Amino acid sequence: MSFIDIQSLTFQYSKKDKAVNNVSMQINRGDFVCLLGHNGSGKSTLAKLIVGLLKPDTGSIKIDGIELTEETVDELRQKIGIVFQNPDNQFVGVSVKDDIAFGLENRQLPRQDMLDKIELYAKLVSMDRFLDANPESLSGGEKQRVAIAGVLACDPEVIIFDEATSMLDPRGVQEVVEVIRQLKGKRTVISITHNLKEALLANKVIVMNEGSIVLAGTPQEIFQEKEILKASKLDILETMKLIEMVEQSTLLEKAKIEETLWELTYQK
Ligand SMILES: Nc1ncnc2c1ncn2[C@@H]1O[C@H](COP(=O)(O)OP(=O)(O)OP(=O)(O)O)[C@@H](O)[C@H]1O
Ligand SMILES: [Mg+2]
Repeated sequence: MSFIDIQSLTFQYSKKDKAVNNVSMQINRGDFVCLLGHNGSGKSTLAKLIVGLLKPDTGSIKIDGIELTEETVDELRQKIGIVFQNPDNQFVGVSVKDDIAFGLENRQLPRQDMLDKIELYAKLVSMDRFLDANPESLSGGEKQRVAIAGVLACDPEVIIFDEATSMLDPRGVQEVVEVIRQLKGKRTVISITHNLKEALLANKVIVMNEGSIVLAGTPQEIFQEKEILKASKLDILETMKLIEMVEQSTLLEKAKIEETLWELTYQK
């Protein structure tokens, strides 16, 4: 039996289009799943359905053999952590420390253990200097780091990252992707991302288009499907070439390529 078993899930916000349309997927314990898809393809909606923030119109979700319902949602939420796409939505405390502590509070840990955990995870995302800061005074990328630390500190069995690196600068992305990489095989990870390097880490890549799954397989299998990727409006192939170029280049060229990438990213 799969750890997460999703059957024929459908959800619509309004009468018009289905944001999630007949989605089925099976995720095993320890899987590292990357969910790709262009803007509006239904990725965040699917994530919200999995954590029980939205209720499906039809279909079912089972986690660890338990069906997600109003009665089981609280129990199942203990097993899943999510880092939301927009970090503004996830702050509750008056300090960064409070926010990282939030999920830990009902675990009745001895105070010192809790403080150690907060410190450890803040360090992991390079936010230990900000422990006493007001979360509202942080930049988007800093908030995203705190949200990641908060979820990691709870150590849930499943972690969903919904574009958790979208506001980070290239170095921040590298740092956080490394943190996510270390979870591979230890936790079940579902990562919604536009970061190709991260997709390459996955043992399962799922591509969504207009609410439906259009491709599922290993990264190698997925990246062969050029036509479907193109039809799904994913500009992956050019980026893939670029990544290969960077990896094969000498250090000197690498610096040049990184500089170009940086310029491209911030050229608006
Ligand atoms: N709160 C909402 N109310 C109404 N429609 C919504 C709402 N949230 C999302 N939608 C619509 O549902 C569809 C799927 O949106 P969703 O946020 O799941 O996409 P996504 O794949 O996460 O996109 P992105 O890459 O931009 O984050 C889109 O057409 C979107 O406009
Ligand atoms: Mg989204």
